[in-house]
Amino acid sequence: SIENQNNGDAVRSYTDDKNHTSTESTYTTSNGAPYPHPYESQRAGDNGPLLLQDFHLIDLLSHFDRERIPERVVHAKGSGAHGFYRTTNTLEDLSIADMFKEGKECPITVRFSTVGGEKGSHDCARDPRGFSVKFRTEEGNWDHVANNTPVFFLRDPAKFPHFIHTQKRVPNTNLTHADDSTFFWDYFAQNPESIHQVLILMGDRGIPDGYRFMHGYSGHTMKLINKEGKWVYAQIHMKSKQGTKFLTQEESTTKGPDYSQKDLFYAIEKGEYPGWDLSVQTMSPEQAEEVWEKQGINVFDLTHVWPQGQFPLRKVGEFFLNENVKNYFAEIEQIAFSPSHLVPGIEPSADPVLQSRLFSYADTHRHRIGANYQQLPVNQPRVPYRMANFQRDGPMAFYSQGERPNYLSSVDPIKFQPRSVDLNKTHGHFVGKAVTFLSEIRKEDFNAPRALWEKVFTEDARERWVENASGHMANIMHNKEDILKRMMSIFREVSEDLASRMEKATGVKGYDGISGLSFNGTHNGMAKDSSKRTAN
Ligand code: HEM
Repeated sequence: SIENQNNGDAVRSYTDDKNHTSTESTYTTSNGAPYPHPYESQRAGDNGPLLLQDFHLIDLLSHFDRERIPERVVHAKGSGAHGFYRTTNTLEDLSIADMFKEGKECPITVRFSTVGGEKGSHDCARDPRGFSVKFRTEEGNWDHVANNTPVFFLRDPAKFPHFIHTQKRVPNTNLTHADDSTFFWDYFAQNPESIHQVLILMGDRGIPDGYRFMHGYSGHTMKLINKEGKWVYAQIHMKSKQGTKFLTQEESTTKGPDYSQKDLFYAIEKGEYPGWDLSVQTMSPEQAEEVWEKQGINVFDLTHVWPQGQFPLRKVGEFFLNENVKNYFAEIEQIAFSPSHLVPGIEPSADPVLQSRLFSYADTHRHRIGANYQQLPVNQPRVPYRMANFQRDGPMAFYSQGERPNYLSSVDPIKFQPRSVDLNKTHGHFVGKAVTFLSEIRKEDFNAPRALWEKVFTEDARERWVENASGHMANIMHNKEDILKRMMSIFREVSEDLASRMEKATGVKGYDGISGLSFNGTHNGMAKDSSKRTAN
């Protein structure tokens, strides 16, 4: 049963923290010497200056000076918990991953987050939500580093730092986009491929009601490899068993800054363990060629989704969060997820944004936590074999692999496990045209946003959308007329209804569409003369 699964202790068993109650403990210096009282500073005489020899006080103050590690450059505000995953429907026909075998279970830790705000920012920001899961499988850790939206704002990774800067504080005013939304909308007015995600962001899903009531999506295409070495493309979905709920803009202003943290923590305390179904959509390489040729959907472009009617979800397993952390810093702040932490049977696709992420996360961990970030208790793999490699030493290497030779040795040879599939087979891939149109706008870019506006949103949802977006646009401080005209023209490519409602709400009329526009970061493939490349 869910109650009997207890995985946080496994994380904590590597430290002294387990059952570390004050009454059972003795007060010591950091080198372990008993010390009579925390306030006993050494000084010269009764009223004299303090002594340099007082290691206890100096160590206390200098450790305090170093208590903070850098916050995450994005997704800094977050909440998390421990739990477990189990496979309910084997995926063995598609993947050799051990965790997908019939009846397999593994401990997990999940971290949810907002994206743009700092570590102390408000949980109810209008922002995508991060949804990361560390699956501690018997073949190493698989990190599924996902969002609550199936698409993303960009398909060219070079745009990511630019885009993120527009979501952060403005350099001179130090204001967020809630008060000065110029850069926020200027970016979207120059990069129309963001429109699908903008529709989601300004709509009801822009403020989920806490973390329990939202889904998660890989967004990226992954690859699953089976024992014959055959592979399929896959999108991975996490569907909330609680369903979805959202807060309106108005409701969000009535909530406290740690609303989602409180909701998650106390739900788990009460035994209301949130759960998600893990499902996959899959596509053969041949089908991927076909959807590109016939529908203009490139599987390496995460501004697009795979239609679920055509590529139905197949449930693989489920997971639950049944245990709160005992120490937020050790178990959530120091957890380090990376899309490059993969296990055999799950591989990245050639999606350029994913490929960039494969580099970026471990790179930031080495900066944020240190070169030995994988050795921290919450990040350590829990595999049934003894791990060994030739990474040694560095700051805080508390597992430096003992007396084993630190080179590939014939004196004391290390064991290797042969690969179960032929890599020559698994690494072929559909090249398609992802790279050539990284920065090109095509008419297909507007199909899914149009379906969202016209078919998915209810009338009430459309009214809320117009209110949310026009309210946010009111704080554009510079070039307002120009930015809004461009935005209205992009809206018109989505739907005349959307454009005319937004024109009414903002009082700014746009152009007929985007065919007369050029963009500073994007070639306009829909321009009258699209051979005139403005950027690429
Ligand atoms: C966090 C980079 C796109 C989901 C982060 C972090 C970096 C980063 C540096 C901070 C990690 C840390 O300090 O622990 C990038 C780059 C991207 C990109 C360079 C594109 C080029 C995406 C996309 C998604 C995503 C497309 C989702 C599909 C997340 C999540 C976190 C995160 C969920 C928080 C992880 C946690 O809970 O610790 N990203 N990101 N990112 N990113 Fe991305």
